[in-house]
Amino acid sequence: MNLILLGPPGAGKGTQAQRLTERFGIAQISTGDMLRAEVKSGSPIGLQAKAIMERGDLVPDAIITAMLAARVAKPDCARGFILDGFPRTVPQAEALDLMLREKGIALDHVIELKVDDAALVERISGRFSCAACGAGYHDRFKRPKQEGVCDACGGREFTRRADDRAETVAARLAAYHRQTAPLLPYYAAQGKLRAVDGMADIDEVSRQIAAILRPPPLDAAAGAV
Ligand code: AP5
Repeated sequence: MNLILLGPPGAGKGTQAQRLTERFGIAQISTGDMLRAEVKSGSPIGLQAKAIMERGDLVPDAIITAMLAARVAKPDCARGFILDGFPRTVPQAEALDLMLREKGIALDHVIELKVDDAALVERISGRFSCAACGAGYHDRFKRPKQEGVCDACGGREFTRRADDRAETVAARLAAYHRQTAPLLPYYAAQGKLRAVDGMADIDEVSRQIAAILRPPPLDAAAGAV
């Protein structure tokens, strides 16, 4: 199964991708996480991306598509993948279409998480993650079960992203509306776009996604033949 999760910054793409990975054993590919790893390592890509990300702009398509092509070729993608944060521009979507066609891979669904802009600022400004394993939390919506201790690995140090300051969030939202929202009609025209209510709580969003992914009951499938 190969999916794209599409939505503005803070819509819950990473949260839902993590759950889908656990449930289906398919790879989560987050271009944002990959770029943050490049920045942390001080690689040439990281040096180029750092200032762009801190401004809230998009990293050039050529860098991203090359990074993505290398990632999709890795063995953990053989069973399928969830693209979280890619594509983000029409040229990226066109490059992905070409890449998948050449590899004979089908894209099953593009799932849009619909969230109001006002809610996104609260979500992003409250977000933090475990410094050791990266598990994501929120000051209000998803606190660790034991205060100050990561549920996943027991780590006690947490971090906040450099691009989660209010002024950068506004720039990221503007970039989404200007450059990424045109992907909605792009995938609707391919008949692949499905939407879920990203304003619902995290479990309900997961249920709505599961309903899209669940195959039709056998009798309904038989009836359709
Ligand atoms: P990236 O890392 O992809 O960030 P983003 O798209 O801005 O998305 P976020 O990670 O901020 O949010 P999310 O939708 O994953 O939400 P989350 O689940 O964390 O990109 C960062 C930067 O890298 C970009 O600005 C750009 O510069 C560059 N970049 C990356 N990909 C690129 C590309 N393809 N091309 C060019 N440049 C690229 O949830 C947010 C918070 O809300 C969490 O705390 C969570 O617990 C909480 N939450 C989640 N769901 C709910 C819910 N239903 N109700 C209440 N709270 C919720």
